[in-house]
Amino acid sequence: MSGRMPEFYFAGSDEKVDPERYLPAAVRSFFPRFIDHGKGAIVFDEEGKELIDLSGGWGCLAIGYSHPEVVEAVQKQAGKFFHTDFSAIPYKGYPALASKLADLAPGDTPKKAVFFNSGAEAVENAVKFAKAKTGRGALVAFENGFHGRTLLTMTLTHKAEPYKQGFGPFAPDVYRLPYPNTYRSDLEVGELERRLKAMVDPSDVAAVIVEPVIGEGGFLVPPDDFLPYLRDLADKYGIQLIFDEIQSGVGRTGKFFAAEHFGVEADLITVAKSIAGGLPLSGVIGKSEVMDAPGPGSIGGTFIGNPLAVESSLATLKVIEEEGLIERAREIGEIVLSRFNEMQERYDVIGDVRGLGAMDALELVEDRETKEPATDLTGEVVNRALEKGVLLPTAGLYGNVIRLLTPLVIDFTNLRRGLDVLEESLEETLAERD
Ligand SMILES: Cc1ncc(COP(=O)(O)O)c(C=O)c1O
Repeated sequence: MSGRMPEFYFAGSDEKVDPERYLPAAVRSFFPRFIDHGKGAIVFDEEGKELIDLSGGWGCLAIGYSHPEVVEAVQKQAGKFFHTDFSAIPYKGYPALASKLADLAPGDTPKKAVFFNSGAEAVENAVKFAKAKTGRGALVAFENGFHGRTLLTMTLTHKAEPYKQGFGPFAPDVYRLPYPNTYRSDLEVGELERRLKAMVDPSDVAAVIVEPVIGEGGFLVPPDDFLPYLRDLADKYGIQLIFDEIQSGVGRTGKFFAAEHFGVEADLITVAKSIAGGLPLSGVIGKSEVMDAPGPGSIGGTFIGNPLAVESSLATLKVIEEEGLIERAREIGEIVLSRFNEMQERYDVIGDVRGLGAMDALELVEDRETKEPATDLTGEVVNRALEKGVLLPTAGLYGNVIRLLTPLVIDFTNLRRGLDVLEESLEETLAERD
């Protein structure tokens, strides 16, 4: 589905760059033009043409492109210092951000936080905390789950193509349970303990890692009893419960953390993506007793909690609060889901509509009875929408889910325009099929 990136000249020279010649085949861009700049939810290419980005930089731009307050905070920090390595010379922003996130995390147990760069790095480290706390090695993840692309996080991730193909062998001692998918299966949540015990002795399990709402795996919202059940199961066997909120957190679902919808306190939470407004920053927030389990110096990394990213994150949290973006996520959800529900009445190929706050999706099927995934149709629809100036991300094990990760600052006129283009693209693609 990726477009060919155009060749270009280095500024002020006749030296040509052919991106395809110098980038590996695995690195491709969906949009076949280069960005000049972005504002809110809109990307401007070098000719000034506009694109409505409903992917929000794949979920990293809850506050949108180039938010002036965040730009100012980063510029101010850039004038002071880029880097010290927190383990050598501390800066105040790091503990300031830790205190904010620890206080925002659901539940009354005192918490601490530590920072990293990518989401995968946060997940890797959450697992290290859990192992240090329990002295155990096994891990349990879920079908449809996505946790990153490093060896361990790729192993925790479910979908093989393209994330795991050709990259085995994988990390040992990782077990997988089904995630409730109310559209495609009638899994009884209460069965999970039996299934777990059939695979592994629960007293060998260090952690269960789960997305409170599944992201890459198709925007699955679990039934209300799922996370409380996992909490009880974890408590019963002394297992650490990790909520991966890298995609579902930072206000996306209409609460700061998606887990707040379910009233469950995790032992450890991972955050990344929108947490620093688009700069690379991730974090692990956890119960103090778990976070203090690894000894001094055992958790770290050169760039962890980079000062620019930390300042960007502090400014991002301020913007989220001042602009009521969490409330806005709920309003976006109402607009999107009511439109998706109307569309489902008009188009048989829309098998399911689901979402929580601004984390909404529709699933396309060839046939409502068999629920055969309409993967090609989905690709055609998003390609057509791109030609019309709207970027729509897909998701799901079969690539047949169109999801929205729109910046929460999006102007509602642009949001409605984006939804119109999605519907037009679906209608035209279906008409061409007939
Ligand atoms: C739930 C979840 N966990 C982990 C990751 C990995 O984050 P990163 O790509 O920053 O390593 C992602 C990325 O999409 C994600 O959605």
